[in-house]
Amino acid sequence: MVSVDDRGFLFGDGLYEVLRCINGRYFRLDSHLRRLDQGIKALNIELSGELRAGLPKTMQKLIEMNRLENLDSLIYLQITRGAAFPRTHAYPAESTEPTVMITASPFQPNRALQLSGADAITVPDLRWSGCNLKTLNLLPNIMLAQLARERNVFGAVMIREGVITEGYNNNVFAIRDGALCTHPESPHILSGITREVVIEIAETAGIPLLQIPVSESEIYEASEVILTGTSTEIQPVIRINDHIIGDGKPGPVAQLLREELNKQMY
Ligand code: PDD
Repeated sequence: MVSVDDRGFLFGDGLYEVLRCINGRYFRLDSHLRRLDQGIKALNIELSGELRAGLPKTMQKLIEMNRLENLDSLIYLQITRGAAFPRTHAYPAESTEPTVMITASPFQPNRALQLSGADAITVPDLRWSGCNLKTLNLLPNIMLAQLARERNVFGAVMIREGVITEGYNNNVFAIRDGALCTHPESPHILSGITREVVIEIAETAGIPLLQIPVSESEIYEASEVILTGTSTEIQPVIRINDHIIGDGKPGPVAQLLREELNKQMY
C-alpha cells in the first residue's frame, strides 16, 4: 500500500536506483549504493541505518521470491521522504519514516539494436541543475522520451547551452580524433555507473579519454556515438537527426566496449 500522502507520490520527493542482477550476481552493487547514499545525504532523507543496511538482503530476498536467481533481472529501488499530512512543501517532521520500495523483474536488453545501431534526435535539456542526483522528478526525461517515440527514434540526446549533456536515460560518448569524449561529471549529468565502467575499460584498453563537453556540431562529425546505461548497456548511435554518424554502422570502439562490458556483466 502506498499512502496518498506519500511525498514521492505528491512531489516526486525521493530517489531511485536501477540495477542489474544476472544469474544471482549484482552488477556494481557497491557503486549503485554509493550513488544512492550520496543522494540520501544531498536530499537530507532520514533513512535509518538499519533500513539502509538491510537493502542488499531485501533485494536478495526479492530475487529469490520471484525465482530470478538464474535469470537476467532489473531491480528498481525507490526511497521517498515518506508520508506526511498536511501536504506541506518543506520537509515534514523528522519522525516521518521514508518509504522504501523495491521491485525485481526479468529483463532482456535489446541485443538486436545494439548490433544494428540506433538513431536519435537532439532535444533541448529541459532539466534543473541537480541532474547528478537520481531523483524521482523525471518529467523532462519522460517528455523527451515521448518526443523520441513520436519521431520513431530510439534516443534523445539532450543539449544545454550548445553542448551535449546526456540521453534521457543514458550517458553519451562520442569518438573524436580517436578519443572517447564525454561530458565531465557535473550537476548537469547523472554520473552513470555504466559510464564509470566504460571509462575504466577505455583506460585499460589504452583508448584516450577526454571528459570534455562536446558541442552539437561536433557530435555530427564524430566517428562513433555511443549511449551507455544500466538498461541501455552499450548502444551505438548511427544517425542523429539527418546526420549519419561515421560510416552509418556501429564502430570498433562500441564493439570493444560491448565485449568488455559483457565479460564483466555476464
Ligand atoms: N537511467 N543518465 C540518466 C539521465 C539516467 O536516467 C541514467 C540511468 C543514466 C545511466 O546511468 P547508469 O549507467 O548508472 O544506469 C544516465 C536508469 C537506467 C533509468 O532511469 O531507468
